[in-house]
Amino acid sequence: MTSIKHVGVVGAGQMGRGITEVCARAGLRVTLCDVTEDRARAGLAGVADSLLKKEKRGALTSDGRARALAGISVTEDLSRLSGADLVVEAAVEDEQAKRALFRQLDEVVTHPDAVLASNTSSIPIARLAAVTRRPETVVGVHFFNPVPEMPLVEVIPSLHTSKATELRMCAFAGETLGKTTIVTQDRAGFVVNSLLIPYLLAAVRMVSSGTATAEDIDTGMTAGCAHPMGPLRLADFIGLDTVAAIGEALYEEYREPLYAPPPLLRRMVESGLLGRKSGQGFFSYR
Ligand code: CAA
Repeated sequence: MTSIKHVGVVGAGQMGRGITEVCARAGLRVTLCDVTEDRARAGLAGVADSLLKKEKRGALTSDGRARALAGISVTEDLSRLSGADLVVEAAVEDEQAKRALFRQLDEVVTHPDAVLASNTSSIPIARLAAVTRRPETVVGVHFFNPVPEMPLVEVIPSLHTSKATELRMCAFAGETLGKTTIVTQDRAGFVVNSLLIPYLLAAVRMVSSGTATAEDIDTGMTAGCAHPMGPLRLADFIGLDTVAAIGEALYEEYREPLYAPPPLLRRMVESGLLGRKSGQGFFSYR
C-alpha cells in the first residue's frame, strides 16, 4: 500500500507524457504541469494519441482509455500540485533548472508525507534534495523511454533519503505501476546510463572517424547483437541534446574521456539537429 492517489508530473515532454500515461492507466489522478498551459495541453494531446493507438491495436478498451483521460488535468500553475502525494519532476535535463523547480516544489507541496521525485537521468539526487527542507522525501525515480513499454524504473535514494521513501517508491513503481525496479546508488548516470551513454557516444565517434555509415553502424548492432534499435537511432530517439547533457554530467562526475560528448555531437546540437523531435539527427524523420 503506497497511499499515493494524486501524482503531479512537472514537464510535458516525452518522459512527462509517458509518466502521466502510466499513472493515469493505473487509476491515479494526475496533474500535468508545464511552464505554459499550451505546452501542458500539447502534452495531454500526446497522451491522448498514445492511448488511442493502444485502443486501436486492442491493448486498451475504450472505457479504459476514457477513464485514464478523465483522471488527467493540466496546468501551468505549480501551486495546483499542493495536495499531491507524489510529484515526479521530468523537466529539461539541466541542473540549475531542476534545482529551481525543487526549491519551488518545496514551497508549494504541502502534504506532510509527499514525495518529491526526479526523473533525472544523470544529475545526483543529493544536489536536488539540498535545496529543499525535506531531503528525506526527495528521491530519484528514473523511467525509460517509451515509458509505457519499457519495464524498468531505477529508484535512487540519496544519502538523506529515508528508507521509508525508498520502499514507498519501489512499491509505487513495482506494485501500482507494474514496473520492474532496481535500486541504485546516487552516482551520475545510475546503472543504465552509465553503461548506455558511453556506448552511444562511441557510435557517434565511429561516424566522425568514418568507420562506417550511420546506417551500417546501426545494422551492426541490430543484426549482430539483436538490439531492438541501433545506437544512432536510439540516440536520435532520446534526443541528441539530452544525450549530450547526460554525457556532460557523467564527464563532470567521473572525468573519464569515454563520457565526454564528441565534437560532432556538440555541433549537431548547436545546429538544432536534435534527432527525432527536430526531424533530423543521424537519420531523417521528416
Ligand atoms: N524513445 C521514444 N520512442 C520510442 C523509443 C524510444 N527509445 N523506442 C521506440 N519508440 C516508439 C516508436 O517511435 C514507436 O512510436 P509510434 O508508434 O508513435 O511510431 C513505438 O515506440 C513503437 O516502436 P517500434 O515501431 O520499434 O515497435 P516495437 O513494438 O517493435 O518495439 C520497443 C517497441 C520495444 C519500444 C522497441 O522499439 C525498443 O526496444 N526500442 C528501444 C527502447 C530503448 O532502448 N529505450 C531506452 C532508452 S534510454 C532511456 O530512456 C534512458 C535515459 O535516461 C536516456
